[in-house]
Amino acid sequence: MPDAPIDLRSDTVTRPTPGMRRAMADAEVGDDVYGEDPTVTTLEREVAERFGREAALFTPTGVMANQVALRVLAAPGTEVVLEAAAHIVAYEAGAHAQLGGLQFRTVDAPGGTLTAELVRAALRPPSFPYTTSALVCLEQTSNRWGGTVYDLDTIDGVRAVADEAGIGVYIDGARIWNASVAAGVPVDEYGRRADALMFSASKGLGCPVGSIVVGDRDLVDEARHWRRLYGGAMRQVGVLAAAVRYALEHHVDRLAEDHANARLIADVVAAAQPAAVQPATVATNMVYLDTGEHLASDLVAALGTEDGVLVGSMGPHLLRLVTHLDVDEAACRRAADAIARRLGA
Ligand SMILES: Cc1ncc(COP(=O)(O)O)c(C=O)c1O
Repeated sequence: MPDAPIDLRSDTVTRPTPGMRRAMADAEVGDDVYGEDPTVTTLEREVAERFGREAALFTPTGVMANQVALRVLAAPGTEVVLEAAAHIVAYEAGAHAQLGGLQFRTVDAPGGTLTAELVRAALRPPSFPYTTSALVCLEQTSNRWGGTVYDLDTIDGVRAVADEAGIGVYIDGARIWNASVAAGVPVDEYGRRADALMFSASKGLGCPVGSIVVGDRDLVDEARHWRRLYGGAMRQVGVLAAAVRYALEHHVDRLAEDHANARLIADVVAAAQPAAVQPATVATNMVYLDTGEHLASDLVAALGTEDGVLVGSMGPHLLRLVTHLDVDEAACRRAADAIARRLGA
């Protein structure tokens, strides 16, 4: 039988481990719409505590987590400042415009990082006839910019500008645990700097389903209303919450291995093809590769069919690789060798 492919397309492709499956099977459950699922209630309390906030809300997806949070933080017809390639702008099917009535003010920011200066320049004057600026969204880590991490000083700078303007700060923290592990910053440091944030359990943490919104009690109560409206209130969802509790216990510290593997891929490819990537830019679990004269789509096809290596194409000459708990160091080395060989051909 041929080896299973080495799947580096995304950290969302992981399958629950045997330990996680056991935790799911053993979960105590109840009807969460009645507030009676003990595993969900415990998870939400534990997550709120870890982020230093009052409350948390389990949602089926990151896209829904972003939507319910933005419904609370920005009224229809107001404007939200975001980095131009942010997931909320580019990959959420226009939901925030269609369902939330929001207008986006997108900002080109090198490395995907919004600074105080960039945000200040993007805010509208608070007077007639300008559109009302309501919220700034940061993405931790930045997906489209290769897993880059906001440092606390930069977040503080943005927070200060937002406070001056009397508006909110939201963190789309789909990969905030990667940021926390890479930077050595406990997640409550992020939690207390934002009006609300969310993280995804279905990415580096290795869960099959789930994202969690964190914030003050009032905000979370209101988000719960929006989650219901969007059809995301579920019943015996403790089986999924149990997976997240398991991941928070077993899969956080190991994210450092994913980061080391991403750096290893970059090192191996750069040693053969220095123009393809600068390893020092690899901050967490993503590697973006410049394919030079090769078409990324051709490489994706050849790597997949001939080398058993699955990677993503993010542009005509750009590949994305994401490390995760289903690919070990040996697999990453094999994948990097195959990529380096094809880039050199
Ligand atoms: C930064 C970011 N935010 C939100 C999401 C949405 O998560 P989901 O696919 O669970 O809806 C993703 C998914 O890749 C993401 O990368």
